Amino acid sequence: MSPSGQRARQFRLHDLRPRRPDARAEVLAGLSRQTKAVPPKFFYDAAGSRLFDAITRLPEYYLTRVETGILRANRAALAKAVGADVCLIEYGSGSSVKSRLLLESCRPALYVPVDISLEHLLASARGIFEEFDWLSVCPACADYSRPFTLPAAAQGLPRMGFFPGSSIGNFEPARAASFLAGVAEVVGPRGRLIVGVDLKKDADVLDAAYNDAAGTTRAFNLNMLSHLNHALGANFQLDQFEHVAAYNEGDGRVEMHLKSVTAQTVRVDGADIAFRAGERIHTENSYKYAPEEFFALAAEAGFVPRERWQDARGYFMVALLENAGVEGRGRLDGSAAAETEAARAAADGG
Ligand code: AVI
Repeated sequence: MSPSGQRARQFRLHDLRPRRPDARAEVLAGLSRQTKAVPPKFFYDAAGSRLFDAITRLPEYYLTRVETGILRANRAALAKAVGADVCLIEYGSGSSVKSRLLLESCRPALYVPVDISLEHLLASARGIFEEFDWLSVCPACADYSRPFTLPAAAQGLPRMGFFPGSSIGNFEPARAASFLAGVAEVVGPRGRLIVGVDLKKDADVLDAAYNDAAGTTRAFNLNMLSHLNHALGANFQLDQFEHVAAYNEGDGRVEMHLKSVTAQTVRVDGADIAFRAGERIHTENSYKYAPEEFFALAAEAGFVPRERWQDARGYFMVALLENAGVEGRGRLDGSAAAETEAARAAADGG
């Protein structure tokens, strides 16, 4: 405690030592399927992260601009809805303008950014700790796609999750519901979540957002192959694949693919992968929801909508959900965390 009776602010890493999945096995399994697919997480090597940053500034890619505008325009309402002295848990390492906007308007007691990449997490959490001189920051190194334990500093604080960017749209709907159930477990009963959701809209707007004139999304998609070349010793030739992205209205999602220009065989870490001319690798789905569709999905996880903010065109929604479901486990502190990870590793056969 400080002489004024206020608790001294702290910076403390909460390291849950997440196990890294076997990239080789994941990629080879995806490329051996009848419909070839590689998970979208393989977009994000250093070059891919830079390309994604560039995407967020494109004129056609409205998502980031519109969501940031919503957070900015509704600062006061957000602060009122969030309330004082919460523990703000950001799903992702929180290096963006959006995190800063929410921190400024809501002034939480504790900020817990969560990311699997320790290096990236520590760098961005340190930056936030230095910038906000009143804020305690406990970065949690964890795989946030599953429930995880919170640092002891979260004890007694109301919990508020934050999952911006419409990253929820990159999960298959059933997986999105189970992810939200995991969030409900972390924030506990009456805990809340602020989530950014890209909404259904005219196909032309969506097609343009994923086929920008500057070719940045094309480069982002193709960069996945260059990432696999470096990470797995593959020999994809980037000029032998084409970027394909289109809104699939029936399934309510933008699909991205890489299409093989010719019949070819690619070597991936010792395995030969044959492509027919025109055959595709499915690299990403980006689901778009009507607000009520999204709330129905959230209800499966026990969340009810409390507030929602949208832009004037109804392109994007920021929703505040509350966990009205059954008692969550929501355990705290490092020892419980280690226990959970050990149990999980044992259950996974690790
Ligand atoms: C990260 N995610 C929300 C982006 C999206 O729009 O689905 C990834 C992206 N893919 C192509 N452009 C952006």
